[in-house]
Amino acid sequence: MKIKHYLLWNRHSKLQLPLLLFIYIKILAHPTITHSASTSSAAKSNTNNNIKTKYPHAATYEAHAKQYLDKASERMQHIWTRSRNSFFSLTTKGRGYNAVNQAPIKQEIENDYRHLVYALAMNLSTIPVMQLNDPILRRRVKRLAKLQLYGLADDDYEEAKNLIHTMQTFITTRMVCSLSDCQTTVAMVPTILNHAGRSKNLADLEYFWRQWRTVLADRDRAKSAFISYVRLLRLAASYNGHITPSRTWYLYYDTDNFQRELEDVVWEIMPLYKELHAYLLKCVRNTYGDKLNADEDAIPAHVLEQIVRQAWSPRTVFRTPYPKNQLPTVQQRLEEILVTPLKIIKKAAEFFESIGLNQMSDSFYEKFSRRIGDEDIGSDCRAEVFYFPPDAALRYCPKLDYKKLMQMHGNMAELQYNLYRGRLPFGVDSEPCPGFASGIGEAAVIASGTPRHLNRLHILFNNSLNEEQSMNRLFRMGIHTILAIPQYFINDKFLVDVMDGHIGAQELNCAYWGLQNKYAGVVPPMRRNEKTFDPDFKFYRGLNPEKPNTVKLLSEILGFQFYRAFCLASEQYRPGDPEYPLHNCDFYGSKKAGTLMKEIMEAGATKHWRDLLEIATGDRKLSGKGVMEYFAPLYTWLKEQNKQNDVEPGWETGTRCSKDYYSPT
Ligand SMILES: *[C@@H]1O[C@H](CO)[C@@H](O)[C@H](O)[C@H]1NC(C)=O
Ligand SMILES: *[C@@H]1O[C@H](CO)[C@@H](O)[C@H](O)[C@H]1NC(C)=O
Repeated sequence: MKIKHYLLWNRHSKLQLPLLLFIYIKILAHPTITHSASTSSAAKSNTNNNIKTKYPHAATYEAHAKQYLDKASERMQHIWTRSRNSFFSLTTKGRGYNAVNQAPIKQEIENDYRHLVYALAMNLSTIPVMQLNDPILRRRVKRLAKLQLYGLADDDYEEAKNLIHTMQTFITTRMVCSLSDCQTTVAMVPTILNHAGRSKNLADLEYFWRQWRTVLADRDRAKSAFISYVRLLRLAASYNGHITPSRTWYLYYDTDNFQRELEDVVWEIMPLYKELHAYLLKCVRNTYGDKLNADEDAIPAHVLEQIVRQAWSPRTVFRTPYPKNQLPTVQQRLEEILVTPLKIIKKAAEFFESIGLNQMSDSFYEKFSRRIGDEDIGSDCRAEVFYFPPDAALRYCPKLDYKKLMQMHGNMAELQYNLYRGRLPFGVDSEPCPGFASGIGEAAVIASGTPRHLNRLHILFNNSLNEEQSMNRLFRMGIHTILAIPQYFINDKFLVDVMDGHIGAQELNCAYWGLQNKYAGVVPPMRRNEKTFDPDFKFYRGLNPEKPNTVKLLSEILGFQFYRAFCLASEQYRPGDPEYPLHNCDFYGSKKAGTLMKEIMEAGATKHWRDLLEIATGDRKLSGKGVMEYFAPLYTWLKEQNKQNDVEPGWETGTRCSKDYYSPT
């Protein structure tokens, strides 16, 4: 199989060679072509008119491209029909949808899809994109001609999948001896994390933190799986002709040095991060006293994990800003008002209907929404959204709580998106870049959790919280968002820098701690060296191509960026007016916000993500200003607290790799 793939690839590069020569000669003959093809739209249309004369074979290429795409669209129809049927056949009304008997069919469908896009990419890569006249056709060819892991030969692809699977088992397999004995073993998720959310015993936290990594270091299992996976990512990039492998990793962002743009956002929110970091370190010292190293100005990794885990639990390990003025509990009221999970879906649907998006039809509720069966609920009861145009479907979690209510607004955004993009031709019927859709979903999630919105649903009696409660809420949200952004960035950068060879195999662990130190002010709890490989479970989770850290990071950033834009459009956010702060806007009922959302959903991938970002937000770049403005009151409050506590935000940076680098003293 490997040999066949190699030959195929060779064959197609030979095919390409005369074309490239041809283009090259044309460029030499007409120096204006390169210029006009990449400048303003006026120049572009000029080029379009001239394409026929400048490229005598343009019409042939266009015809070929259309032919390939038509055929592929036909095959896509079959694939969608199969997934629609599998959705129907395995779900009968009233009965649960079963993930176990669904799995083999899902696998077959995925294989069919992979073989199709593989063959299609092979065919399309012989077409010189710049010679195509029709801009939509051009985008379809461009997007479908290159692949990521799907570009690997069958056996390499299988290996990649196995490695991903192996690394996911690090998270959920019981492999660490429990605190009492080794008769029982526990897994990172959920047991160790739940423990971190509750325990006030620093030694126990440290034990689990170290032990999980010790098990993973046994015969280098984590490191070697990671290195093998990186090798395959590089291989996939080489098939695209990318000398820098991360160009394939960031393929759909279509930006030189995309990592730089992500890093800029991290620095943009860094002043806020540092204030929060300093405040939290003080709380941690108050809780753990001298069990914690007193002159350390960075947060130990196991304590950071705890800070994040405990943030939403009712009895937090570290105190909230105003412990006497806790957030009102919503659970009881929510159960009284919403009664059934279906009502949650309807409320979420109504949110999007109120801003002018698709009305969810009766047939959607009857045919296309299914409850997760009791046997599948488990701890990770997550809704799932399906795409088989012209329909979109939903498999939902029957739990009735605040978190599900918020999450459902994200799922409903995805459903709406699926309905709109399903009208576009295959190849541009997707989000313009990974993370864009979940960014829109995130904006709706943020809106749905505001006091204003909970009041609208009659879950809260008041449409705003008092100042102290509001600060408690921003504080908890801040832990979730502000601490997460640098972590997603670190995990993404670590992978990409290893992939691109900026981090060598001999210094992986040191480089990892270097990033933690620089971007997050986090240190390991004890002395570490290259015998272990210390990234946390979220790093491995993000190696799953379905939810990479890049996408997580983008959906946080874009989420607040979109949210800010929708709130400005709705005039529920009025900068400078304390009556209308960003953090209490739900843009419910705002047709203006809805128009923006609809416009970017309808465009799918027919335009560059920057063009769509600009339509929605006015920005052409990622920006942290949504985050900064949302958390503005928290930022002010933290600065005051830190000043009062005589705490200087920031930490010592600079790390050296030596034999036993990185002791916390
Ligand atoms: C690729 O091209 C070959 C030869 O023209 C054709 O038989 C095949 O159907 C095409 N496949 C796709 C997916 O475009
Ligand atoms: C609602 O909140 C405002 C501002 O905190 C407060 O003045 C008002 O008394 C509250 N209303 C009720 C019914 O609790």
